[in-house]
Amino acid sequence: MEHEDRVISDEAINPTELSLEKSLRPQYFRQYIGQDKIKEELMIYIEAAKSREEALDHVLLYGPPGLGKTTMAMVIANEMNTAIRTTSGPAIEKPGDLVALLNDLEPGGILFIDEIHRLPRVVEEMLYSAMEDYYVDIIIGQGETAHPVHFPLPPFTLIGATTRAGNLSAPLRDRFGILAHMEYYAVSDLTNIVERTADVLNTKTDQTGAIEVARRSRGTPRIANRLLKRVRDYAEVVGEGIVTEQIASKALNLLNVDSHGLDRVDQRLLKTMIELYSGGPVGLNTLSANIGEEMTTIEDMVEPYLLKEGFIQRTPRGRVATLKAYQHFNIPMK
Ligand SMILES: Nc1ncnc2c1ncn2[C@@H]1O[C@H](COP(=O)(O)OP(=O)(O)O)[C@@H](O)[C@H]1O
Ligand SMILES: [Mg+2]
Repeated sequence: MEHEDRVISDEAINPTELSLEKSLRPQYFRQYIGQDKIKEELMIYIEAAKSREEALDHVLLYGPPGLGKTTMAMVIANEMNTAIRTTSGPAIEKPGDLVALLNDLEPGGILFIDEIHRLPRVVEEMLYSAMEDYYVDIIIGQGETAHPVHFPLPPFTLIGATTRAGNLSAPLRDRFGILAHMEYYAVSDLTNIVERTADVLNTKTDQTGAIEVARRSRGTPRIANRLLKRVRDYAEVVGEGIVTEQIASKALNLLNVDSHGLDRVDQRLLKTMIELYSGGPVGLNTLSANIGEEMTTIEDMVEPYLLKEGFIQRTPRGRVATLKAYQHFNIPMK
C-alpha cells in the first residue's frame, strides 16, 4: 500500500538517516538515556554473567518501533565485551541458516534477531534446544540415508526484538530469561536525547527549544532525532540557526506535527472515528480501510501512543475515541 511520507514513520528511511542513526547510537549504558529499570536490571545480570564467565541469559526486548531496542542490543554486546551478529526473523528462512549463524558465534557471543515474531515455524522450533541446552538436532541426507545428527553449539546469548510480544509463541517466550518491556520516553529524557543529538549535529538549541521538540516526539527517540533535523533546517533558513521554542513550534506546525506530537495519520484516525463513526466503537479493519493504512501499521505504530496518551480506548467491540480526543480537535462530544 502506498502511503504519504510520514514525518513520524518509524523506520530509518534512507541512507543519510541510517548513517545519522549510527553516529547517534549510544555505545554504553552510561550514554543510553532513559529506560532506567531495564538498564538497572541488565547491568546486574551482565556483571554476574561476566564474573562467572558465562554467556548472558537470553534477552527479549519488546515495545513500539524507535524506542531503542536495536541500540540496547548493541549496548549489551559492548557491556559484555563480546561480538554481536545481527539478523531478522524473516531473513532466516531455513533451519540451516540458523545453524550457520549460531555456529559462527564466538563462545559467549550474541545473536540479535530483530522482528523475532516473524521467524518461520521450523526455524523457531530449532531455536528451543539451541537456547536451552546449546545444541540442535539436524537431519543430514535425504530419503533412505537421512539421519539425525546431534550438533553442539558454543554458548551464546540470543537477543530478540519485537514490536509485538503477543505474537510470540509461549514456548519461545518462555525461553528468554530476561524480558524487557521498553516504555515510551518521558519528555525530560527526550529533552536530553534532543540536546545530545543537537551536540552531535553541531546545532544550537536553547532549553525551551529542546523541550518543544521533545514534547512533540511521541515519546520516541527516533522521532525526536528526525524532528530535530527538520527543525534545524528551518532554524537555519528562517531563523538565526538556533532552535528556540518559537522556531521549533513553527517548524513542527509546518510539518503537521501538532502540539501533542500527533501527525497526519494520528489525526486522520481520530477524526475518522469521531466524524464518521460518532466516536466508535470502530473495528480495526474499518479504520484501516478508511485511512488507507495497513492494520499492522495501525496496531504497531499508531495506536499504542494514542492509547497511552488516552486519546482512544480499546473495547471488545472496537476502538473508542475519548473525551480527550474530542477536546483535542475542539469538537463537542455528543
Ligand atoms: N535511550 C536512547 N538514548 C539516546 N538515543 C536513543 C535512545 N534510544 C534510541 N535512540 C536513538 O533512536 C534511534 C532509534 O533507535 P533504535 O534502537 O533503532 O530503535 P528500535 O530498534 O527500537 O526501533 C537511534 O538513532 C538511536 O540512536
Ligand atoms: Mg530496531
